[in-house]
Amino acid sequence: MKLKPAQSEVAPGHGGVAAHGARHVAIIMDGNGRWAKKRHMPRVFGHQRGVEAVRRTVRAAREMGLEALTLYAFSTENWRRPEDEIGALMSLLKRFIVDDLDEFAANNVRLKIIGDHSAFAPDVVELIDKALARTRDNDGTTLAIALNYGAQDEIARAAAKAAARGPVTVESIAAELDTADMPPLDLLIRTSGEVRLSNFLLWQAAYAEMCFLDVLWPDFTPDHLAQALADFAQRERRFGGR
Ligand code: FPP
Repeated sequence: MKLKPAQSEVAPGHGGVAAHGARHVAIIMDGNGRWAKKRHMPRVFGHQRGVEAVRRTVRAAREMGLEALTLYAFSTENWRRPEDEIGALMSLLKRFIVDDLDEFAANNVRLKIIGDHSAFAPDVVELIDKALARTRDNDGTTLAIALNYGAQDEIARAAAKAAARGPVTVESIAAELDTADMPPLDLLIRTSGEVRLSNFLLWQAAYAEMCFLDVLWPDFTPDHLAQALADFAQRERRFGGR
């Protein structure tokens, strides 16, 4: 039996699922460093161009009717990177929020963070918290940015909360995940040609479709997203059934 959601052209915020059938797409944005290296530029240059790819992808996700887009921006393991690269990523994140918040607000985008951003510097935390508060009631596309995020950490935190409330079940853990208020994950995309999940959305990926693209993140365009969604629309999802 094919388990495709009902199809319509209605955009999110209006109660429908777009024609490609996907509600929630997540992306492992990989390859910034290699993109810069190919140009004999510092890694930070790749991250800067990576932010441009983030910007056009968020716009495209909205226009393509996705209810949710989750982007892996900073993992629990990324603290192992050199201090100057971490500092540059934080600066880019801050500038992205400052520059794009009005656009989110104007376009009914709800910003969400998965992971524990409270570990970041106080000015970053304050900026993020204000952006979360400003967009909290938007019901168009949810843009979830994974910050200081690791799926194993997320599952451990969720299991502990579930245990404190009562019996630990699949449902009680799922209800405590950082993504609990988001639609189920439909499609997980990774750029750069690497084929692994790198501790991203391990629980949510249980029945997600996977798309590994041989394109470095700064080169990712709305056409890549459209193609991934077109491929997704062709896939037969069985969810373990027949
Ligand atoms: C992976 O490339 C990318 C990251 C670890 C960070 C992703 C960050 C951005 C796209 C910019 C900031 C994000 C936002 C939301 C403003 P890599 O450095 O591991 O590349 P490599 O594998 O080629 O070295």
